Amino acid sequence: MIIAIDGPAASGKSISAKIVAEQLGFTYLDTGAMYRCVTLAMINAGADISDSKHINALLDDLKIDLVNNDGQLQIMMNNTDVTDNIRTMEVTENVSAVSALKNVRDSMVKMQREIASKTNCVMEGRDIGTVVFPEAKYKFFLTSDVKERARRRQRDLLALGEKKSIEDLVEDIQRRDAYDSTRELSPLRKAEDAIEIDTTDLTIDGQVSKIIEIVNA
Ligand code: DC
Repeated sequence: MIIAIDGPAASGKSISAKIVAEQLGFTYLDTGAMYRCVTLAMINAGADISDSKHINALLDDLKIDLVNNDGQLQIMMNNTDVTDNIRTMEVTENVSAVSALKNVRDSMVKMQREIASKTNCVMEGRDIGTVVFPEAKYKFFLTSDVKERARRRQRDLLALGEKKSIEDLVEDIQRRDAYDSTRELSPLRKAEDAIEIDTTDLTIDGQVSKIIEIVNA
């Protein structure tokens, strides 16, 4: 069974998806982390966004493992732990452009479908309910006020030792949402049959309970 959770940046998808997966005993798949891995691999290799040959070669060699390590999701890229490295501002600023590329999307969607063919999954991203698994049994679309999303992002970055003002983060988030929702391939949008949840005034427990209640009903 697939539970799809889509929505814009920092709308509460990751934390909700992770806890829902834990509570249901499902595998949690953070597809944004996969696009971040490709972006990091390109930065590390100095690959230009227009150099599709170089990017294809990187994709061919790219192994991504999402490992559950005592309840924490650990992101392994070619057997190296990149859990923190994929969350830096440098990766964040480049990931939208990388995730708009056709070869990158084809490769990631293939990986996502392969993983989900073996296990029950809570999969979060931008296009899970619309493109990756349009037939998913449950689809959710999480939204939240942009200032609240910037505050959440600020807390995440501080934990990594990076300081950014709320104003800068609002701008970053709006730029990324605009890019993600207007791109040609698999743009961010709510599937017609997805249930929308506004998380602005919800606690994490509140978000999770709403999803679990619907799934259990
Ligand atoms: O959820 P996140 O912020 O970690 O996602 C990083 C980027 O990856 C996001 O800006 C758009 C892209 N993405 C995507 O295009 N499709 C997905 N299913 C998940 C993420």
